[in-house]
Amino acid sequence: MKFVNCKDNKLFIDEDSLPEPLENQIQIEIHSTSVNRADVLQRKGHYPPPKGESEIIGLECAGIVSKVGPNSSKFNIGDKVCAILGGGGYAEFVNVDDRQVMPIPSNISLLEAGSLPETILTVYENIFNISEFKKNEVVLIHGGSSGIGTTAISILKNFTDQIYVTAGSKEKCERCIELGAKTAINYKEEDFEQYFVDQKIKVDVILDMVGGSYLKKNLKILNQKGRLTYIAALENIKAEANLLYIMTKQLKISGSTLRSRSPAEKGKIVDQVVEHIWPLIEQGKYKPTIFQSFNMEDVNLAHELMESSSHIGKILIDIKGGQK
Ligand SMILES: NC(=O)c1ccc[n+]([C@@H]2O[C@H](COP(=O)([O-])OP(=O)(O)OC[C@H]3O[C@@H](n4cnc5c(N)ncnc54)[C@H](OP(=O)(O)O)[C@@H]3O)[C@@H](O)[C@H]2O)c1
Repeated sequence: MKFVNCKDNKLFIDEDSLPEPLENQIQIEIHSTSVNRADVLQRKGHYPPPKGESEIIGLECAGIVSKVGPNSSKFNIGDKVCAILGGGGYAEFVNVDDRQVMPIPSNISLLEAGSLPETILTVYENIFNISEFKKNEVVLIHGGSSGIGTTAISILKNFTDQIYVTAGSKEKCERCIELGAKTAINYKEEDFEQYFVDQKIKVDVILDMVGGSYLKKNLKILNQKGRLTYIAALENIKAEANLLYIMTKQLKISGSTLRSRSPAEKGKIVDQVVEHIWPLIEQGKYKPTIFQSFNMEDVNLAHELMESSSHIGKILIDIKGGQK
């Protein structure tokens, strides 16, 4: 099978043999995958796959079931599916534990479906499970125009009209509003803490990927019993906090990573997403925000785009694209 290999920080197409699916695994003939920030880190050698996972980059995929391993009965050969992966998405085939696999909603194409698993599972786990978001609460999403941010807005608009985001340009802010945010703060022009203080708005749930200097500000603007959840620290992994806010407002600060979870843990979130988010997609109440799609041969360009941070939403890789 063809797959995307990496040497000296450059991606290139390579060939490898295709292993058989093991116990409880299915084999997917991949049609599409997406670029995630973590892929860029892995390419640079900073984010190796968890033990036992494929060395190939790629945290999600969509495609068609091509083989079913021993003791796997969740899907049949020919089913259209998408999956959350520990690695292996930038390839023509992948073997994956069937608990990590979902059917593709009927109104989503095989290409688009490669954009769904990673951000939807991450948003569901961190907003609904960890932050215990409740209907009509006030939410702040930092990095509103990211793959994660656009997914969070598009899901949450079904549950609250109080979605605030930060983003780094006027164009990004406008797109976030179009997607369903009430207000988008261009953090390069306006201090988000000052905005919330001036407007006397208290935030119930904050999803943060920036870290660093944002911690102090987040604590200040959180409501009583507010929840702050970290999924990354793009600015700085270290931060200073005024602990008094945490005590007096009874705040909960948490965080999580998805990739390192076991198939059983990922499977639990997969089941929740299929139960609660898939119907929104089928009813047209959630649409993925796809910025651009690249053929597998142009994967370096896809990574350059992500590193430029000029994208809004997801960047797709059309694995079958070059064969059309
Ligand atoms: N913990 C988990 O399980 C999990 C799962 C998935 C993703 N993540 C993380 O969540 C983050 C978003 O992922 P993604 O794939 O959606 O990435 P993405 O689309 O590239 O989004 C990242 C965005 O963050 C914004 N940003 C804000 N401050 C930044 C800074 N100091 N440095 C760089 N960018 C900054 C940038 O937009 P502007 O600055 O222009 O607004 C950028 O476009 C990544 O860090 C990723 O690793 C974590």
